[in-house]
Order: sequence, then structure tokens, then C-alpha cells
Amino acid sequence: MTQKKPIHLDLGKNSYDIFIGQGEIDRLGERLETVDFKGKVAVVTNPKIEKLYGSRVKKSLQKSGYRPLVLQIPAGERYKTLKQIGRVYDGLIENRFERKDLVIALGGGVIGDMAGFAAATFLRGIPFVQCPTSVVAQVDASIGGKTGVDHARGKNLIGAFHQPRFVSTDPAVLGTLPKREYISGLAEVVKYGVIADETFFQYLEQNSREIRALKIEKVSDCIERSSAIKAAIVQSDERESGLRKILNYGHTIGHAVETLTGYRSVRHGEGVAMGMIAASRLAVEMGVLHPHDVDRQTALLKDFGLPVKLPDLDPADILNVMAGDKKVMGGEIYFVLPKKIGSVEMMKVDKKVLRRFLKTLPKTV
Ligand code: GLY
Repeated sequence: MTQKKPIHLDLGKNSYDIFIGQGEIDRLGERLETVDFKGKVAVVTNPKIEKLYGSRVKKSLQKSGYRPLVLQIPAGERYKTLKQIGRVYDGLIENRFERKDLVIALGGGVIGDMAGFAAATFLRGIPFVQCPTSVVAQVDASIGGKTGVDHARGKNLIGAFHQPRFVSTDPAVLGTLPKREYISGLAEVVKYGVIADETFFQYLEQNSREIRALKIEKVSDCIERSSAIKAAIVQSDERESGLRKILNYGHTIGHAVETLTGYRSVRHGEGVAMGMIAASRLAVEMGVLHPHDVDRQTALLKDFGLPVKLPDLDPADILNVMAGDKKVMGGEIYFVLPKKIGSVEMMKVDKKVLRRFLKTLPKTV
């Protein structure tokens, strides 16, 4: 199989490559050899992923002379806690890991964030590698070095920036995801089209059926193009002081919906899909977006099988949750709003305008 050129993320001394390709998961050992890594390796994963891919990863590492230690975290966002990080530290300490040794995050966004955080903090920072196995992890969470855990009062409140040594992305592993999880992840792919690339958005419109049906060539294209957009954004704003905030398109209202529905009935990507349409309607209301561009997003999201209508929630509750969010500065709420497909801008929205808008929303979408 021909290997494509990796996407290079230039962050000075924190630079790294994102390798994307079918069978990449079987090349982890080789990749480590290529960066001349000689220390110990711990694979942090959950039982579900270990069952699916653990033996392939171990085999690849063993073939290159590594003797991987596997550390498990129970599956699910509710285990994204400091307590579980403590158990990872225990495993690393018991096995005498040192600063030159390495952690591999094998799993979805939760595993990536947690393994990355353990690596960022153990012995004040050891190297780590991302091996993402969900759509969201492949196109978003594994790129850019955000690591962390949740606190009882909110998601991702504790964390650190810690860039991986490299990212190893195998789109073929998406084939074993539950269908709803795969579809949910496509919301983040649509997001990249809206925030940065109208041609990519068009590609998604033209190939939606095959992408939804997990046709691997199309899926690989989506993962590659989305990853390249994310890498370019992180490259120009590693610490999220400006541009990187546009990655939050759809997330402000989306997060509020996820929170108010208890992170059970609405998946992250589903919340983002609803949030993107809500934000776009707000942009129309504010006179910055043509309604046709809301229709295009609505049609594409629906083609993928994603929800676009907000559940029936009290606008006051939505506002309350948003007020406690990281996107709030002073009394105003900042939104990433599209001006057209392929271009967005951060805009502040008055709370009163927002309250009025939210009241009209469930009936009009
Ligand atoms: N997931 C948003 C970011 O990486 O900035």
C-alpha cells in the first residue's frame, strides 16, 4: 500500500506529524523506531478498544522490539476524572517509568485527553503518541495538544497543553464504531467545511451518501481534509488566544444542550449539529448570513442523519448554562457565527437578543 505524506504541524520544538492511512494502526512500532524512540511504552486504552485493537497494536510494537504495558481506564465520559488519572500514575510508577518513556493513547477523545493529561503531568511531562479511534478523536481531539479531565462542575476544567510526539490515524478503524457514534462524529467534519473551506463543504454535499455508508476512500478523504484544517488552525494559534476559538462553532449552544440533557440522550456531535444550525439562524437574525447557507447546512446534516432541531428546553436554562461556559467574557456571550459557508467570525451577542432568539428557536427550525 502506498503511504501518503503526513500532515506536518509546525510548532517549533513541539512540531509533529499526523500520519493518516489504512493500516496505520499496524505501523505504530515502525513509527516509534523512525523517531528513534528507545524507552518503555505504556498503552492507555479502555476494555472495549483493547478487545478490538489491543492485539494489533501490541503486535506492531513487539515487532519493533518494544514490550508494551497496557493500562486500562473504564469506558465513558463519567470516568474522565482525576481519580482514574491516579490509577494511570500508579501503573507508570509500579513499572518504573521515567521521563524518557512514553504513553500511547489508544481510543476516542476521552482516552486521548486522559492519556495526554497523564503524560503531561507525570514526572512534569513525558512524551506521548495519539492513536485515535473515533471520528471526533481523529479530526479534532488528537490534534493540537489539549489534554485534561472533567470536574464535577464542568467538562475539561482541569488540563494542560501537551503536544503529542506524533498522531497515528487509521480511518479503517472507524468501521467498528456503533453507527450512531460514527454519524455523530460527522458533525465535526461538517464544521470544518463551514468554518474554513467551502470546496470541502461542497465535496461533503456531493458525497454524503457514500460517506454516511462508510465508504473507506471517501471517509479517508474526510479525515485527511479535516485534520489538515485543524492542523493549520492550531499552527497559527497553539494556545487558543484567537483563531483557534473558531473550532468552537456550534459548540456554545451544543454544549448547553448536552449539559441540560445530562450527556445521555444527546451525543456530542448531535449537540454540535443542533448548535451549528442554531448559531447560523442567529447569524441570519443578526444580518450577517444569507438564509440559503442555513438551508445548505441543514440539508447536509440531515443527509448524514444528524438532528438539527433543538430539544424542547427552557431558553432561560440554556442561557444559564452558557453563562457558566468558557466562552463568556463579561456579561456578553461570544459566538462563532458564519458569514458564509467557509468563513466564520467571533461575535459578541447581547444576552437580551439571545434570550429573545432562543424563545423563537425550537418552533422555527
Ligand atoms: N477541540 C477544540 C480545540 O482543539 O481547540
